[in-house]
Amino acid sequence: MQFRPLGRTHDSIPFVGLGTWGIGGEMGPDSSRDKAGIEALRLGLDLEMKFIDTAEMYGAGHSEEVVARVLEGRSDRVFVASKVSPRHFAYDDVLAAAEKSLKRLGLKQMDLYQLHWPSSKIPISETMRAMEKLVKDGLTRHIGVSNFSVEQMKEAQQSLSHEKIVSNQVEYSLIDRSVEARILPYCQKEGLTLIAYSPLGQGKIPSGRGSSFKILDEISGKLGKSRNQVALNWVLQHDSVVTIPKAADTDHVKENAEVADWKLDSEDYQRLAKAFS
Ligand SMILES: NC(=O)c1ccc[n+]([C@@H]2O[C@H](COP(=O)([O-])OP(=O)(O)OC[C@H]3O[C@@H](n4cnc5c(N)ncnc54)[C@H](OP(=O)(O)O)[C@@H]3O)[C@@H](O)[C@H]2O)c1
Repeated sequence: MQFRPLGRTHDSIPFVGLGTWGIGGEMGPDSSRDKAGIEALRLGLDLEMKFIDTAEMYGAGHSEEVVARVLEGRSDRVFVASKVSPRHFAYDDVLAAAEKSLKRLGLKQMDLYQLHWPSSKIPISETMRAMEKLVKDGLTRHIGVSNFSVEQMKEAQQSLSHEKIVSNQVEYSLIDRSVEARILPYCQKEGLTLIAYSPLGQGKIPSGRGSSFKILDEISGKLGKSRNQVALNWVLQHDSVVTIPKAADTDHVKENAEVADWKLDSEDYQRLAKAFS
C-alpha cells in the first residue's frame, strides 16, 4: 500500500481506504448484513487499507457501531474518519454529535471529523467554532469537510482561528470528473487532501458499457488488471487524492487493495482521460 500525507499534517493515510455507506444500513439501521461487512472491513485492515470512513448518518449511527466491532481487539493503528450531519451544525449539536459518534465507535478520539455537506441554515463560523473546540478537547485530531465548493472551503477555513481544514471529501471517478475544474486544483495548491468518494461511480464503472468502457477494458486486459483496478488507479494518479471505495464485500476489498502498488503509464492515463472526457 502507498500512503499520502493528510493535508499539511505529519499524518499519512493509505491511497485506498474503506468506505462504509450501506454497511449497517442506509438511511436507517439494518443489522442483517453486519457479519459480512465486519468480515470485509477486517480483511481490508489486514490488507493495509487502514483508513475507515463512516458517518453518523450511515445506518442512522449503526455503521459506526459496526466499525467499533471491526476495531475491537485490534492493536494496529487505524485512521478513523466520521462525519457530522448538517442538522447538527449548531454549536452545541456538533459537540453532542461528536460525543455520540465516539460512543458508537468505541473510541475516545476520531482522527478526522468532517462536515458531511454544507448547510444553508447554520453559519459556518458557528460550526467551525465547535470543530475547533473538539480538536482542543482531543475528541478529533483533524477537521475535514465534504461536498464543499472552493468558496465554501475558503469560508470554512477563514472561520477557523488556528486549525486548518485538512481534507475535502467529494465525488471523483472516471465518470464524474467535475472536481477537476476547480476543487482538485485548489486542494492541490492549498495542501488539502481530496478524499475521492464513489470512485467506482456507485457501481456504474463495473457495469458500464459503451465505447469509453471498451478502451478501459482494452487497457485492463493489456495490464492484466480488472477495469475497477484501472479506474481506481487512474483517480490515484492525481496528486493529493486518496480514495474510499465501498468495502462491503471481501472479493471487492481484495481487488481494491491491489490498486496502488503500480502505476498507469502516461499514454494509458491520457487515453482514459480522453475516452471519459
Ligand atoms: N461524503 C459523501 O457525501 C459521500 C457520498 C457517497 C459515498 N461516500 C463514501 O464513499 C464510499 C464509496 O462510495 P460509494 O459506496 O457511493 O460508491 P463506489 O465505491 O464507487 O461503488 C460502490 C459499488 O461498487 C461495488 N464495488 C466496489 N468494489 C468493487 C469491485 N472491486 N468490483 C465490482 N464492484 C465493486 C459495490 O458493490 P458491493 O456493495 O457488492 O461491494 C457497490 O455496488 C462510501 O461507502 C462512503 O463511505 C461519501
